[in-house]
Amino acid sequence: MAEANRQIVLDRLPQGDRLAPDHFRLAEAAIPQAGEGEVLLRTRYISLDAANRAWMQGATYRAALSSGQVMAGGALAEVIQSNVAHLMPGDAVFADTGWQDYAVLSGKRLAKLPDLEPMTHLLSVFGVAGLTAYFGLLECGKPKAGETVVVSAAAGSVGSIVGQIAKLKGCRVIGVAGGAEKGRWLVDELGFDAAIDYKAGGLRQQMKEAVPEGIDVYFDNTGGEIFETCLFAMKNFGRIACCGAVSQYDGAAPPHGPRGIPGLIVTKRLTLRGFVVMDFEDQRAAALKDLQGWVASGQIKVQEDIIDGLENTPAALIGLLNGENRGKRMIRVR
Ligand SMILES: NC(=O)c1ccc[n+]([C@@H]2O[C@H](COP(=O)([O-])OP(=O)(O)OC[C@H]3O[C@@H](n4cnc5c(N)ncnc54)[C@H](OP(=O)(O)O)[C@@H]3O)[C@@H](O)[C@H]2O)c1
Repeated sequence: MAEANRQIVLDRLPQGDRLAPDHFRLAEAAIPQAGEGEVLLRTRYISLDAANRAWMQGATYRAALSSGQVMAGGALAEVIQSNVAHLMPGDAVFADTGWQDYAVLSGKRLAKLPDLEPMTHLLSVFGVAGLTAYFGLLECGKPKAGETVVVSAAAGSVGSIVGQIAKLKGCRVIGVAGGAEKGRWLVDELGFDAAIDYKAGGLRQQMKEAVPEGIDVYFDNTGGEIFETCLFAMKNFGRIACCGAVSQYDGAAPPHGPRGIPGLIVTKRLTLRGFVVMDFEDQRAAALKDLQGWVASGQIKVQEDIIDGLENTPAALIGLLNGENRGKRMIRVR
């Protein structure tokens, strides 16, 4: 075991500015000991999520982060020492360890993960990203074969899986992503029907050309201008799965909300449904079975973006918010 616990501390909360390396600092603490009912975990892979930045803005489905705390975040971790009966040293768990080498957590909510190769799939397609894509699309978007599905942040971890599930359900799929290269990847490698480059400008015109018949299901990962553009392009009785709003997480508050919403929702008889992946916990086993089958058959291609070194975690999150990643970004701690 190492002698110290390296930690990335959220030194200063952004106040309307964009996340930068100097919001964080590297610290060292003693390796903690597990008490009664607790386990000592060694962090193996830290999940990088757009939500990490949203937690700095205020309370969400979890308490807001505060300056001075070890940066929060989910990770795949290995049990080193256990004071609970259901976990043994060597077991893998998914836990909110934060950005550090070691963490002590209550064993109550931790469950042993299956042995799986590669282990990283437990963070990507068989973790939060895959389950979010699955439930958001199928339970909230409810696509039918032949319908048109649009997904934003399409080359990211959730979006890339949403598009592939929609394809295997027989839909026409358009991904919105930043840059021509990501668009080519979506079409050539993942089998999307078309891609829209929101950074190239002329979003409304691009949308018109890509979906002249209108959108049946929009999977919203971004909010903002892309959300607004899709809203105008929805068909009557269309469904919008509201998954996240990454365009609103980093930097100053947006200048205005989406325009024309109330009238459009009424006249188009739209259904908008927000969701959090935990809402579907009771259906998790069935979803994982489907996802495992689709990965095994090659119907879902898994893209992982793995960066080495705990010390690189802040830069990796900043890069994700800037669109550097393709698929699921994570840190291999050591
Ligand atoms: N509801 C839930 O339970 C749940 C669970 C997990 C994640 N989420 C949500 O899912 C979404 C994706 O998160 P993720 O962690 O999987 O990250 P991700 O999609 O892997 O990465 C974020 C992507 O967002 C895009 N992006 C950044 N700024 C943007 C902007 N201003 N406009 C448009 N696109 C922008 C970037 O790609 P480009 O190069 O295309 O810009 C970047 O690659 C987020 O909204 C997150 O909050 C929700």
